[in-house]
Amino acid sequence: MKIMIIGSGGREHAILWKVAQNPKVEKVYCAPGNGCTELEEKCENINISDLDELAKFAKENSVDLTIVGPEVPLVEGIVDKFREKGLRIFGPSKKAAELEGSKAYAKEFMKKYNIKTAGYEVFDDKEKALKYINACNFPVVIKADGLAAGKGVVICESYEQAEETLEDFMIKDRFNGSGKTIVVEEFLKGIEASILAITDGKTIIPFISAKDHKQIFDGNKGPNTGGMGSIAPNPYCTKRVLREFDKDILQPTLKGIQEENLDFKGIVFFGIMINRFGTYLLEYNVRLGDPETQAVLPLMESDLVELIEAALDEKLSDYTIKWKKGFSCCVVAASKGYPGKYETGFEIQGVNKAKNVFGAGVKLEEGTLKTAGGRVLCAWAAEDSLIEATKKAYMRLDEISFDGIYYRTDIGNI
Ligand code: AMP
Ligand code: GLY
Repeated sequence: MKIMIIGSGGREHAILWKVAQNPKVEKVYCAPGNGCTELEEKCENINISDLDELAKFAKENSVDLTIVGPEVPLVEGIVDKFREKGLRIFGPSKKAAELEGSKAYAKEFMKKYNIKTAGYEVFDDKEKALKYINACNFPVVIKADGLAAGKGVVICESYEQAEETLEDFMIKDRFNGSGKTIVVEEFLKGIEASILAITDGKTIIPFISAKDHKQIFDGNKGPNTGGMGSIAPNPYCTKRVLREFDKDILQPTLKGIQEENLDFKGIVFFGIMINRFGTYLLEYNVRLGDPETQAVLPLMESDLVELIEAALDEKLSDYTIKWKKGFSCCVVAASKGYPGKYETGFEIQGVNKAKNVFGAGVKLEEGTLKTAGGRVLCAWAAEDSLIEATKKAYMRLDEISFDGIYYRTDIGNI
């Protein structure tokens, strides 16, 4: 079997690591992959990003299954394109991907299907938005409607900050169209968690829960990043929370997917907020999370290829996902300066046997691994307890070095 994975981050390396364990898989193409995926035995990186070219490659090379990592190709309609050509691909259709591609669409969907979420209004006129905000309690949350590479959400503490944000999003058009429409949302206090789930459109099965660590500094301080580490399962996702999640979020989402006739054979990522009033849905993503995947997949006992095939064949109702007992922890090592400006091209030591490491911003130059991005790689471990998993992940990271290596020292401290 030949598999193609679209994307270049730690999430994609984790998917590769997992699917390569299936003995039927003889070859995995990563498009474009990274320096660490290139080191994996069954993998070949291919430098293609154009969707039509990817489909052509899949056809010509008899790729049996394509798995899409990031949201951009999904929102651009890669699944529809591949299906038109008779190619097997795992992910939502372009229309279904709007659950991530448009926050206004996602919020309308949540409202229509009684999914527990923060109150909101949608605006495409700055003055009307400001008038509404003037009557709100602060903080308020302003969200760009479209994709904004994780930078489209601002928690505004004052009217002045809200005005600046709207100017930036709607008038200066910071996100090239993605912020022309905005969502103004009620601010929710609480603890965040991530739950991934797989659906074939008929059945939805949640994975074990996870926790991202978004801020750059210890103690959840400083600006947001693409994620500085993750653990699974999330200790805050108690039985009560999971019950509420199932009733108030998961099942109504499946109902919505069915009633809206969304063609969704893929992953739904639920970003949730837990507080004393219940469990709220903050956002949908339509793909695996990064860095949640790097913690969740090491605990998955079931075969990921079989699971994905079951979803594509609409046979998830017969499937039980098996999980290993215990916890996992993944700690991201970043380049000095990230998420601001940083330099790249530094030699990386200690990774060559890529064991318990997933690469991200890494390139391979004449056999030498070098830094090539903000988040460079992550070290991970899966053990019986969270303390042990965390200790082992940090021990693995201690073996790795490059100029300016930076990581949080409190991943897994709950
Ligand atoms: P989103 O892309 O909608 O998940 O937003 C990104 C981040 O902004 C979330 O992970 C939260 O930390 C924060 N956030 C989003 N919506 C809210 C809200 N209604 N209340 C509080 N924080 C929020
Ligand atoms: N970890 C958040 C995301 O993947 O969007």
